[in-house]
Amino acid sequence: MALVTGAGRGIGQGLALGLAAEGAKLVLNDLDEGPVNDTVQQIKAAGGQAIGIAGSVTDPSLASQLVDAAKSEYGDLHIIGTCAGFIWDGMIHRMTDDQWQGIIDVHLTGTFRVVRESVSFMREKAKAEKEANGNAMARHIVTVSSLSGFGNLGQANYAAAKAGIVGLTRTVALEGAMFNIMANSVAFGLIDTRMTRSQETQNERVGEAVQGIPEQAREKLMATVPLNRPGSVEEAVGPMLFLASDHANYVSGVLLEVNGASHIT
Ligand SMILES: NC(=O)c1ccc[n+]([C@@H]2O[C@H](COP(=O)([O-])OP(=O)(O)OC[C@H]3O[C@@H](n4cnc5c(N)ncnc54)[C@H](O)[C@@H]3O)[C@@H](O)[C@H]2O)c1
Repeated sequence: MALVTGAGRGIGQGLALGLAAEGAKLVLNDLDEGPVNDTVQQIKAAGGQAIGIAGSVTDPSLASQLVDAAKSEYGDLHIIGTCAGFIWDGMIHRMTDDQWQGIIDVHLTGTFRVVRESVSFMREKAKAEKEANGNAMARHIVTVSSLSGFGNLGQANYAAAKAGIVGLTRTVALEGAMFNIMANSVAFGLIDTRMTRSQETQNERVGEAVQGIPEQAREKLMATVPLNRPGSVEEAVGPMLFLASDHANYVSGVLLEVNGASHIT
């Protein structure tokens, strides 16, 4: 039983499809109803089970809607992946309070709320399992950070949120340990999604925030990637599936960098 936010596109959609292929039953969320329903349909068409709940992770009631759905539909929650997000870039001297807060709200507070609600339910299940069998099964929280969390031009808001997610996740790793809850984060570099495709050709927005990277800046960025190409969604999802699996039952509090070796350059 797994919960994925931002599951209508890109990495979140890839994670949902990957988990479904491994037999997970899913609660999926996205801001946009059409895309999340599309992911649900793809999973159902392949014989899997998923329900979609459209809504923003900035809505304080969303996290409980998602976890309640996992409780009522499946009775348990083993995995969460927090992939909801967008960018709203600008140099700090021009960054508005709305721009700052909008990104902090979605990435950091949105992740916090979904993780808080999930941990609360996971602890209950773990306590019951410990009482019944002496130990609790491993449960896995996978949050999404970014190479930008170490600092990136034009992304003071996003960098702060993504760095915050690392501290949040490491704390959850400590607090969750006695309940056998693993919490890890993945810091992606350049992955080929709406967030990083050429701004000029895709013309995509979230509200007033333009998605993507200006073509020239994208080319410069690509030149710093030793593998010399963006990662695919599947290549981004593989390490998340590992962290969500029983292969990672002794891995917690880790920040896994998935960036084609960019962190070396
Ligand atoms: N693509 C990259 O290179 C890259 C690099 C580092 C980190 N990330 C992170 O990976 C995650 C997934 O991004 P992606 O690259 O797949 O982008 P994407 O735009 O393809 O997908 C993001 C999804 O999140 C949804 N979303 C946006 N705001 C939301 C909200 N308030 N509530 C619920 N859903 C919301 C969008 O509708 C979209 O479907 C994000 O957290 C992003 O910051 C991406």
